[in-house]
Amino acid sequence: MKNYERFISFEGIDFCGKSTQTAILLETLQEKGINVHLLREPGGTIISEKVRSIILDKAHLEMHAKAEILLYSAARAQLVHQKLLPLLEEGEYIIADRFYDSTTAYQGYGRQLDVAFVQQLNHFATSGLRPAKTLFIDISPEEALRRQKAGERQKDRLENESARFFQLIYDGYQRLIKEAPERFIVIPGEDSIENVAKNIQETVFKIWNQE
Ligand SMILES: Nc1ncnc2c1ncn2[C@@H]1O[C@H](COP(=O)(O)OP(=O)(O)OP(=O)(O)O)[C@@H](O)[C@H]1O
Ligand SMILES: [Mg+2]
Repeated sequence: MKNYERFISFEGIDFCGKSTQTAILLETLQEKGINVHLLREPGGTIISEKVRSIILDKAHLEMHAKAEILLYSAARAQLVHQKLLPLLEEGEYIIADRFYDSTTAYQGYGRQLDVAFVQQLNHFATSGLRPAKTLFIDISPEEALRRQKAGERQKDRLENESARFFQLIYDGYQRLIKEAPERFIVIPGEDSIENVAKNIQETVFKIWNQE
């Protein structure tokens, strides 16, 4: 297996279950003795976590969309070069809770920046590193709103956005999936946490040729 094939990312709109599912998957893979790391975006290094706190700070209502995308890209560039590439070089496995598709979906399609430029920026920030596969956990924008209302989790700055923004992002992801059908795997997300986890586990075992 080539080293970059040991890298898969998880994508989907807010509340689809990325963090829930990647945590379960991490544990399952570790129990099998696989050397696997879970990275979250934005974050994963000291610098990237500091940038994350600037991005998500509820007080930063005046943040311009261009500043926002450059901060995400800065956090990603640091993560890729300081941590992700060296780990892949050592033959480690990596699962990422969001990667550059989130930037294309949220900043490109959601905030309506030039999508072609966003993709160039993604390429620049990652030096062209691409996940071998991307699992898109699929829930509707309506289900996302239901989970947002049901949860007691405090809303961060980005989650105060409107239902229309959720829809734009969802539609953006659909376009990305159409453009790269060989990379994306759609995982139905409106099922119990256990069933979704089982599906993800089987899918990932298949990708990485595990029993
Ligand atoms: N299959 C599911 N059915 C119902 N609720 C779920 C399911 N999976 C996760 N949830 C709940 O939805 C909420 C969001 O889950 P989670 O934090 O994993 O989503 P996320 O995709 O990481 O969101 P974000 O993009 O905001 O980080 C949590 O309260 C979680 O318990
Ligand atoms: Mg999450």
